[in-house]
Amino acid sequence: MGQIISIFCPRCGRTCESTRYQESCGSCGSVLEVAMDLSGLGPWERDALLAAPERGLFRWWAFLPLADRASVVSLGEGDTPLLSAGRLGERLGFERLYLKNDTVLPTGSLKDRSNAIGVSKAVELGVPLVAVVSTGNAAASVSAYAAAAGLRSVIMLPEETAPGKVAQAAAHGAEIVAVKGDYDRTAKLFAAAVREFGWYACMSNNPYRNEGKKSYAYELWAQLGREAPQWLIHPTAGGLGLVATWKGFNELYALGWVDRLPRMVAAQASACAPIVEAYRSGSADVRPVSAKETIAESIRVGYPKSLGWRALRDIRASGGTAIALDEPEIREAWALLARHAGIYAEPAGAISLAAAARLRQEGVIDPSDLTVCVITGHGLKQPEIQGLAPPLPPAIEPNLESLRRRLSQERVDVG
Ligand SMILES: Cc1ncc(COP(=O)(O)O)c(C=O)c1O
Ligand SMILES: [Zn+2]
Repeated sequence: MGQIISIFCPRCGRTCESTRYQESCGSCGSVLEVAMDLSGLGPWERDALLAAPERGLFRWWAFLPLADRASVVSLGEGDTPLLSAGRLGERLGFERLYLKNDTVLPTGSLKDRSNAIGVSKAVELGVPLVAVVSTGNAAASVSAYAAAAGLRSVIMLPEETAPGKVAQAAAHGAEIVAVKGDYDRTAKLFAAAVREFGWYACMSNNPYRNEGKKSYAYELWAQLGREAPQWLIHPTAGGLGLVATWKGFNELYALGWVDRLPRMVAAQASACAPIVEAYRSGSADVRPVSAKETIAESIRVGYPKSLGWRALRDIRASGGTAIALDEPEIREAWALLARHAGIYAEPAGAISLAAAARLRQEGVIDPSDLTVCVITGHGLKQPEIQGLAPPLPPAIEPNLESLRRRLSQERVDVG
C-alpha cells in the first residue's frame, strides 16, 4: 500500500529508477510519471481514510510517493474549503456551483500542494538544494517549504515579476536570481542550469512533486460525499493542476470509489492561451505562443512544454474543454468572487469562475451540473490589482451627522 511501482515515461513507456531524482526520460526527453501500487486499498481502507481525524494533504499517504513519514515537510496544507457558491451560483445560472478555495493554502496559492510533496521527497532523497523557475507563486511556495526543511533554495524569475511575490520568496531566505526577459527565456536558462549543476527542480517535470496536486481529487471526493464533480474547471498554465487532478480521479475510479469522472476544463487568458489554441486546432501537442500582457499574470506561460500535451490528452479523454477568457471577463470574475462570495483571489486564480460563467452562458454546462471552480491564488499576491478597485470616495467630517448623510447617499445597509 502506498508504494511506488515505477517511475515511467508516459510517452515511450521506459521505466527508470525510483530511488533518485531524474528530470526527464533518458530516451525521449518526456516528463516522467510515478505509478503507485494502490492494490491494497479496499472498502475498509476507504472508510478508515474518511473517518480518520487527520486533516491535510498527508492524510492521503497511501496515494503519495513517499516512503518515510520522518521526511514530511508540512505547513498545514490541504483540506481547503469547498464552498457552495449559493448567491454567486444563482446569479450565474448554476444550481450546484462550488468554489475550491485554495487561496487559503499556507503561502497563498495552489503550489503548496505540489511543493509539500516535492520538498518532502527532496528531504527523503537527501538533496541539499531545491530550485525553481517561477512567475511568483511557485517561488514563494518552494522557498517557504525549503525554509521549513532547512534546505537551500534557488529561485529564478523574470525581472518583471510582481515585487510582492519576490518579497515573499526573499523573506524565506531564497537565493533569488532575476533574469532579463520573459518567463520562457528564464525557463530555458533554468533548464540549462539543472543539467549543469544537477539541481533538484521543483517544477512540473518533477514526477514526485506532481503527485501532490492529485490531492484535489481526493479532497473533492471526500467533500462532495464520495462523488466526483461533473465539471472541474482549473486555471491553467503548465497544466499540472489539471493533469494531476485527472490522475487522482482516475485512481479513485479504478478503485471503484467514484462512479464517474469529471469533465476537465482548462481556463487560460486569451492573451496567453497555448493549450486552448492547441485544443481548438485538434493538435496533439502545444506550440509556443508569445505571451501578451494579462492581469492573470501567474498563468502567463507561453510554452507549457512538459505537460501541455498531457493536459490536451486528459481534457479530450474527459470530454472537457479548454477556454480562453478576455481581460474584461477575468476582471468581472475577480470582482464577482470578492463581492458575492467573499473570496479575494488574484485574477489568475479567479479565471476558473470566468470560464464557468461563459460555459454556462453558452449552454455547455447545464444549470444542474455539479460544477467546481478551483480558485488558485490569493488576491494579496498581486498588490497591483488594488488598481482594479474603485477609488476611495471623498472623506467626510468626523461626526455622526456627516456619516448619516453619507450612508443615506450611498444607501449602505447599517441595520
Ligand atoms: C494562481 C495560479 N493558478 C493556476 C496556476 C496553474 O497551474 P498549472 O501549472 O498547474 O497549470 C498557477 C501556476 O502557475 C498559479 O500560480
Ligand atoms: Zn520516454
